[in-house]
Amino acid sequence: STAARPGRSLLGFSPIPTSEADAVSVAEGYSARVLIPWGDPVRPDGPAWRKDASNSAAEQAEQLGSHHDGMHFFPTGRNARGEDTGLLVLNHEYIDQALLHTDGDAEMTQEKVDKGVAAHGVSVVAVALVDGQWQQVDSPLARRVTGATPVTYTGPVTLEHPALDSNNPPLGTMNNCSHGFTPWDTYLACEENWNSYFGTEDESWQPSPQEARYGIDNEGFGYRWYEVDPRWDIAVNSNEPHRFGWVVEIDPFDPAAVPVKRTALGRIKHEGALVTESRARLVVYTGDDQDGEYIYKYVSDAPWQSQRARGVSPLDEGTLYVARFDDDNTGSWLPLVFGTGPLTASNGWQDQADVLLRTREAADAVGATPMDRPEWISQHPKTKDTYAALTNGSGWGAANPRKPNPYGHIIRWWEPNKNNTGTTFEWDIFVLAGDPAYDDSVELSEDSMFGSPDGLWFDPDGRLWIQTDISNSAQLDPEQGYDNIGNNALLAADPESGDIRRFLVGPRGCELTGAVTTPDQRTLFVNVQHPGEETDTIGEPTPENPRAVSNWPEFDPQGRPRSATLAIRKDDGGIIGT
Ligand code: FEO
Ligand code: CA
Ligand code: CA
Ligand code: CA
Repeated sequence: STAARPGRSLLGFSPIPTSEADAVSVAEGYSARVLIPWGDPVRPDGPAWRKDASNSAAEQAEQLGSHHDGMHFFPTGRNARGEDTGLLVLNHEYIDQALLHTDGDAEMTQEKVDKGVAAHGVSVVAVALVDGQWQQVDSPLARRVTGATPVTYTGPVTLEHPALDSNNPPLGTMNNCSHGFTPWDTYLACEENWNSYFGTEDESWQPSPQEARYGIDNEGFGYRWYEVDPRWDIAVNSNEPHRFGWVVEIDPFDPAAVPVKRTALGRIKHEGALVTESRARLVVYTGDDQDGEYIYKYVSDAPWQSQRARGVSPLDEGTLYVARFDDDNTGSWLPLVFGTGPLTASNGWQDQADVLLRTREAADAVGATPMDRPEWISQHPKTKDTYAALTNGSGWGAANPRKPNPYGHIIRWWEPNKNNTGTTFEWDIFVLAGDPAYDDSVELSEDSMFGSPDGLWFDPDGRLWIQTDISNSAQLDPEQGYDNIGNNALLAADPESGDIRRFLVGPRGCELTGAVTTPDQRTLFVNVQHPGEETDTIGEPTPENPRAVSNWPEFDPQGRPRSATLAIRKDDGGIIGT
């Protein structure tokens, strides 16, 4: 592994201070430009954004969704004018009904449910670097995938499975948090808090143990869609939730391609899907973001290129494992395979489809280690050490050593001989997040302190970009020890030297997510998600709520805060982070 070696740092910028301003601040020598905010049309001739939220559901389905999250940049070469072009593919994790509708969420209607569903999913947007600035351009590849787009299912769980038999057609993907991408240039959208859309007004309904294990209850997040749309009424459609919790493969280069839910990767609250290649196999790491849930790894059954040559998706034929982190800094990947260990017919398991539909219960049965909310996972391009953000949680033992853990930490593991296909590993804790003024185990300074790490992304040089998602309730609660840390931030770390520096701070109420550079590393794209969250009224801060109010990025008193993407360039045209 990579012990911290003080010396030359990969980081060349001066760290910036914390901020509580309703603005983006970025390191000196860099500029950030806003593009593709929620509501702009995905194709320039599409329906225009209306700042009073009066766009219809049908219009929203042709516009950028809300709550930008995980994102990848697929380069598409140079256009006829010699400009760099590419596709930004990004998730829209959830919605804020107070912002999405002119009358907020006072009364639920089918049109409002449809608009909410249309604001979820994925956008494929074409961009070009014009005169040194990225801007949206037209492309026949630009499209939306929403919660109502037809989808299909492959792997051990297919639409023929009785558990997926629903009154509804198979539609859509919801609560896409982080993401992944494959060596064959497809995008993976991951379904996280999909349980939250379901509920019922039927007071006689009670969740089964399986439903309870995934957090399905009467109310979900309180969207109340089930009041008008039986698709989301758990008492009416008990199989509809089985269609969610998967990793969804989307081909951004074929606008007619139907999104495919790859069920061999398990059914959890997937944060993301970090794809790597090892010993010619495809390896996918994925976290289940809930306090006390697990980290998983999937390994293709054969070299991925030979699978594809046979017409088999490497995401359909492989083995799913779950991690056990032992207290002596070793660990094991435990297979979740029907007939193996406790996952037998005599213990009530029917087949591999049953194991995958109940992935969490299977992981419980094999003795996986509960973790402090596993978020993004990224792998160092050279050492192949794998890093996971544990955003905060209860503290579950040596791998989650703070009890409770309001600030989170970043754990890393390395597998023997850089072989990511095996079943053993060693681990350590890369950094404990937090404020040293409140916790003297934190070895961070004013330039580097942060809390609740969520997004992690290694650039090709080995800089680890850390994006934070401190909840607004934690920021506003003096008991939580977050009052010195400011708004959510993007930091860069050099794992070799241990150097960590704050690079960018977002506007009020937002989290930062989706960081990825262009292949030349001269542009960094990052998403500002949910500016103004916890805002009861759009406008000036109030004494009760002095810092959660935002109207970023337009600051239009008649408008509203909008999630958007930032394109960050170095003013001298250099590599980001240097
Ligand atoms: Fe959607 Fe786990 O953050
Ligand atoms: Ca996240
Ligand atoms: Ca979040
Ligand atoms: Ca988060």
